Amino acid sequence: MTDISVDVHLSPNHQAQALRADVLDGLLATPKTLPPKWFYDARGSELFERITALPEYYPTRVERSVLAARAGEIASLTQARSLVELGSGSSEKTRLLLSALIGLSQFVPVDVSETALRESAAAIAADYPGLSVHGVVGDFTEHLDLVPGVRPRLFAFLGGTIGNLVPTERAKFLSSVRSVLFEGEWLVLGTDLVKDPSVLVRAYDDSAGVTAEFNKNVLLVLNRELSADFDVSSFSHVARWDADAEWIEMRLRAERAMRVNLAALSLDISFAAGEEMRTEVSAKFRRGGVSRELAEAGFELVRWFTDPDELFAVSLARAAG
Ligand code: SAH
Ligand code: TRP
Repeated sequence: MTDISVDVHLSPNHQAQALRADVLDGLLATPKTLPPKWFYDARGSELFERITALPEYYPTRVERSVLAARAGEIASLTQARSLVELGSGSSEKTRLLLSALIGLSQFVPVDVSETALRESAAAIAADYPGLSVHGVVGDFTEHLDLVPGVRPRLFAFLGGTIGNLVPTERAKFLSSVRSVLFEGEWLVLGTDLVKDPSVLVRAYDDSAGVTAEFNKNVLLVLNRELSADFDVSSFSHVARWDADAEWIEMRLRAERAMRVNLAALSLDISFAAGEEMRTEVSAKFRRGGVSRELAEAGFELVRWFTDPDELFAVSLARAAG
């Protein structure tokens, strides 16, 4: 007997409206941008899972190794009864926490990707008998107040996904997580760290071209959802290190001049040859910055865990009074 339920807070109608508004904003801006959460349709989630297994993409492996070494300590410090995971994806690494948390009764994965969420919720429920799995299909920037959880709760935000938010969005996001927590509840946060740019660029521009396919997938989402006619093969994937912002910037470059029609928006957009459109940032962090951003949102950094090469960090933070 598995104990599983799923709440859906993203209606197809709400999603359609949000996509239209985001795409309209982004494509009319200079330079053009596309918002990252639209990468993750069923195919996008699958491609991301393939990225996590690439030799160049160290963050998943390194974060897993840190969690494997520290899950026991996280469990004994937090004594959490529920684990709420934001942007849960496949929840593979999260199993290390689920297995270590002795008194855990509930797991609450939250993700915009309904297919990924349902699949991982079912897999976890099957492998953890006695654990109640309550999935939430929702946006972690909008629906935190609708997230259930037996106290004390441990929120997890892994994979360096916080780096996909720009600093103002990060501040808002961390404050909203803090606002739903009671003093003494917990956040475990995965952040990729600043390092040799060539290592970073390779992680976002792999030799097998999976990341390129993932990036271009957002154009296929627009073709399908907005009856657009992007010629995907005329765009190429660009991953660049921005040393001032300390982030990797993902772009799609139009390799020839073209006009694109987005019928559902009654919009025609032109691209110059070589024009680059920003699709994602992935910020890289230092200990001081993480500690400061957490403090500004009302968290106290209690533990900073990293691997011997200091590639990736897992922070354990406590909601302060
Ligand atoms: N936590 C997993 C997956 C990271 S990929 C790991 O560490 O491997 C980022 C995940 O966040 C994807 O599953 C994506 O669907 C989800 N996501 C992206 N934007 C989101 C948003 N605004 N709200 C909820 N989930 C989001
Ligand atoms: N959270 C992941 C990261 O920043 C997401 C990611 C990995 C990603 N590879 C990507 C996003 C390529 C866009 C393009 O590492």
